[in-house]
Amino acid sequence: MKVDVLLGLQWGDEGKGKVVDVLTPGYDIVARFQGGPNAGHTLEFDNHKYVLRSIPSGVFQSGQTNIIGGGVVLDPVLFREEAEALEKSGVDLKKVLKLGRKAHLIMPTHRMLDAAGEKAKGDKKIGTTGKGIGPTYTDKISRNGIRLGDTERADFAERYAAARKRHIEMLKGLGAEPEAEALAAAEKTWMEAVDYLREFEFIDTEHYLNKALTDGKKVLCEGAQGTMLDVDFGSYPFVTSSNTVTAGACTGLGVAPNRIGDVYGIFKAYCTRVGAGPFPTELFDEDGKLMRDRGHEYGAVTGRERRCGWIDLVALRYAIMVDGVTKLIMMKSDVLDVFPEIKACTAYRLKDGSVVTEFPFSVEGEIEPVYTSIPGWMTDMSGMKSEDELPEKFLDYVAFLEKELGVPVEILSVGPDREQTIVRKRS
Ligand code: GDP
Ligand code: IMO
Ligand code: MG
Repeated sequence: MKVDVLLGLQWGDEGKGKVVDVLTPGYDIVARFQGGPNAGHTLEFDNHKYVLRSIPSGVFQSGQTNIIGGGVVLDPVLFREEAEALEKSGVDLKKVLKLGRKAHLIMPTHRMLDAAGEKAKGDKKIGTTGKGIGPTYTDKISRNGIRLGDTERADFAERYAAARKRHIEMLKGLGAEPEAEALAAAEKTWMEAVDYLREFEFIDTEHYLNKALTDGKKVLCEGAQGTMLDVDFGSYPFVTSSNTVTAGACTGLGVAPNRIGDVYGIFKAYCTRVGAGPFPTELFDEDGKLMRDRGHEYGAVTGRERRCGWIDLVALRYAIMVDGVTKLIMMKSDVLDVFPEIKACTAYRLKDGSVVTEFPFSVEGEIEPVYTSIPGWMTDMSGMKSEDELPEKFLDYVAFLEKELGVPVEILSVGPDREQTIVRKRS
């Protein structure tokens, strides 16, 4: 058996949560492989809306096993909030969720370091979610981190104290020494949340998943963020601190590259980005505003306005290449229902006048998108349930994208609800 991977191809918020929920009935296990509470994955069904941050989006279906992998960074306090809310809404979470021992823990001082680091960057700041993601992954790579499995060790308190001491020295260096009482209060809540974490089953994801595959179980790996936020292949340094690409599923869960099966790449029918960093097709006009209003483009975690723009096929082709995408999923098609003309960026014109179709080393500065114009379908698709109902002009747009991207679009989403999903007949 192989694992399938589902990940975002743009700058995050493509609709991963919704589609993981829709696909979960076809799987036995859903596993998050990277990121942390910087993610906000929205699911809507039965007139309820849920936003998941660290917990996989398979928890609402029929008892599949959900796993938080070792590549994830976990904030015990935010995890507890999220988990208790789910338990209250009737999810038997301790039964369906298992936690990977190798996941690194986000400490209160990591969040302080995130804020202080951003402040020190001034107008070069990344616009992080402020959840301590960068500092926690920094500790992981510099071999100073604390892992979930360390909470089972007798010397956990000493490990915590050593990390805390280092962080306080770093914070002092940044002129952001924490106030003792505030830190003590945050730590008390944190330690209590660690005790709550202990109520869940801890596993070694590499052994668990490889055994599950040998036993014929079907596994879906859920990505967070998007390929253009990947620490290696995204618009560095305006990226997150993990590998959001398909390879991240291997390192984040312990499944080998030859165990990767289908790779579902999700993209919006347009583009959004939250936080700072280059965005070649960004719109500052009425079209951009209309996309934001119709798509409710406000961050699920921070509430920040998302920047909006036309679809960028140069960046999408690049993402499909580095991720090895085998199936495409197009989200939020309904948002474009009222646009008489739709644009798609097929190439970039660089400062020296040259036109490129390959994503360049840097997209900062003056890059002019080269657009192809496509007639809009001007039809409300949000109530449509099957491919036969879809307007011809919309299907022409999808066919155009498939030709440009070289991969079939297998699922079309026409609204936020679970039901507003059209799986195409040929798949
Ligand atoms: P994720 O981080 O990739 O899971 O995506 P988010 O949940 O952050 O953002 C996607 C937003 O779009 C959420 O508010 C979803 O409810 C919503 N959404 C998902 N699919 C569709 C769709 O096809 N149409 C519309 N209008 N909204 C959608
Ligand atoms: P989901 O999983 C959109 C962005 C932040 C910032 C940069 C670095 O919901 O798609 P970080 O806190 O990770 O250090 O911030 O990455 N970012 C996201 N943007 N969706 C996300 O997650 C994001 N997670 C981080 O806005 O620009
Ligand atoms: Mg999101």
